Amino acid sequence: MCGIMGYRGQRRAAPVLLGGLRRLEYRGYDSAGLAIRNGGMHVWKQIGRVQGLVDNLPAEIQGTLGIAHTRWATHGGVTDENAHPHLGPHQRVAIVHNGIIENAGAVRRDLERSGATFTSETDSEVIAHRLEAAIDEGLEPLEAMRKALNGLRGTWGVCAAFLDHDAVVCARNGSPMAIGEAEHGVIFSSDPQPLSEHTNRVLILEDGDMAIADESGFRVERLTGGASNTTAIVMEEAWGEAELGDFPHFMIKEIHEQPEALRHCISGRIDLRSGNGRLGGLHLSPKALTEVPHVRLLGCGTAMHAALIGQQLIERLARLPAVTHVASEFRYQDPVVNPRALHFAVSQSGETMDTLAAIKEIQLKGGEVHGVVNVVGSSIARLCGQGVYIHSGPEQAVASTKAFSNMVAALTIFAVQIGRTRGLPPAEAKQVLRGLREVPDLIEAYLADQGPIMDAVEMVKDASSVLFLGRDLSASVAREGALKLMELAYVPCLAYPAGEMKHGPIALLEEGSPVIVIAPDDEVKEKVSSAIHECRARGARIVLICTKGDDIAEQGDVVIEVPRTHPYCSPLLTVLPTQLIAYHTALSLGLDVDRPRNLAKSVTVE
Ligand code: G6P
Repeated sequence: MCGIMGYRGQRRAAPVLLGGLRRLEYRGYDSAGLAIRNGGMHVWKQIGRVQGLVDNLPAEIQGTLGIAHTRWATHGGVTDENAHPHLGPHQRVAIVHNGIIENAGAVRRDLERSGATFTSETDSEVIAHRLEAAIDEGLEPLEAMRKALNGLRGTWGVCAAFLDHDAVVCARNGSPMAIGEAEHGVIFSSDPQPLSEHTNRVLILEDGDMAIADESGFRVERLTGGASNTTAIVMEEAWGEAELGDFPHFMIKEIHEQPEALRHCISGRIDLRSGNGRLGGLHLSPKALTEVPHVRLLGCGTAMHAALIGQQLIERLARLPAVTHVASEFRYQDPVVNPRALHFAVSQSGETMDTLAAIKEIQLKGGEVHGVVNVVGSSIARLCGQGVYIHSGPEQAVASTKAFSNMVAALTIFAVQIGRTRGLPPAEAKQVLRGLREVPDLIEAYLADQGPIMDAVEMVKDASSVLFLGRDLSASVAREGALKLMELAYVPCLAYPAGEMKHGPIALLEEGSPVIVIAPDDEVKEKVSSAIHECRARGARIVLICTKGDDIAEQGDVVIEVPRTHPYCSPLLTVLPTQLIAYHTALSLGLDVDRPRNLAKSVTVE
């Protein structure tokens, strides 16, 4: 979603800021802008890509202090005026803002009553007005920001530049802000990733923190006054390149990175001798695991689908009730929380606002939450304070692929670990773990011989809707496959457990309707086969994703075979063709696979 950059240092600010914006592009956005202090406060902003902004900039912009932004519209349409930065009425301050100011309407009306005029429809512009008013009163930048934010309600990551002060100020409340201290200057960003090319010494602000970079270096204070407890961390070297390399798109690169990403996730976490999982970061003793009454998992989008698979494996291997919740619904249901229960928050970015809100709800009711997170040091990882890093490496395509696999793998290991404390026989545990250990090689084998993906693409690309079916673990793979095709190719997709098909979606089927069926060789395969017959009898055409060499292949019009694995590991194989179908369908329709319309990688608003 929206991205923030800020810089004060010895280099020209524009290249530093624009380089940062390019690294934030993957989050999803619809406009971009830049403000540079150089004599006056100069602003360039427009809808469209960062490259479009760059093409319209003067050749060499001088000035060593500035701020920049990529905006994903919430309040106000996608227009040049609504793009950030926003200026104060006399162009003496410029601000960029992530989050939502909930009382912006009332604040704006107050300001208008005292004569202010606004140039945008955004909630953010009120910050610029209030900040400039505080500067006009003679306050120093940090004090002025404190005054501007006091009285505002909502969430912010905000960064400001000042015409009459050699300073950049930022503040955080619910929207991440990180600061990198490089040799050539101080860099601010809403995401630690753009800082990594300048420094690995990074400070991540806590909610309620604010920071200033000026002549005397930089310091962090609390919005309410006093010093902050935040300390600098040294960023881990992330495995995996943040660059495209030889691949045309991040999505296909990340699909191909799945074997390596999985190896990073499971390495050191499987003990085949004792048939146990070893997830040390959970800080849960075997005794504690025996006392857990139930498990709840929370997530959004792809993370929620991974959670569903984890839920089923936990229940099956540990004989323990487990349930998955859509994080955005959770807190509004006033859920009953058992403080002895185990809660998992599953998230690639670690910044999803809906998931964060669900965690806070559980914590407020005395429960503890463990993160299953990719981005180290992210808000969810920090809020939970314990959990499992899935180690996917940087995932840049909006559609999540390698993070999904690693979430599933981490939860599979957990299911074994908790299962072993509750009577899961070692031999059975070892079979699952052996299966998991072989998956990276099997994915490599599949990716080297992907089957007739393009035939499936031909069937779905112009379809008015596509039905995805699967049963048991594969029902969640069907949901994930449908999500992928819908978000990338904008084809309406429906996913149903195969047995439920006859209770509704069958009404949609007519001659030639495409149905994608996930049917690995498992205990429910025969049941799925009945659903296939019911579809075919209505003229539907079947794309069948099944185990290599299985007889069920006869039932597909297009058959995509994946290598045989332990049935509990099958989602890690069967999901691959669905990722490839979505990718190639989007490409054949001429769409932007890495940045589909309206979507964001990291959804930091409710
Ligand atoms: C957005 C993305 C999805 C992602 C979901 C959850 O909707 O477009 O791809 O699955 O957020 O993100 P998280 O970072 O919490 O896994």
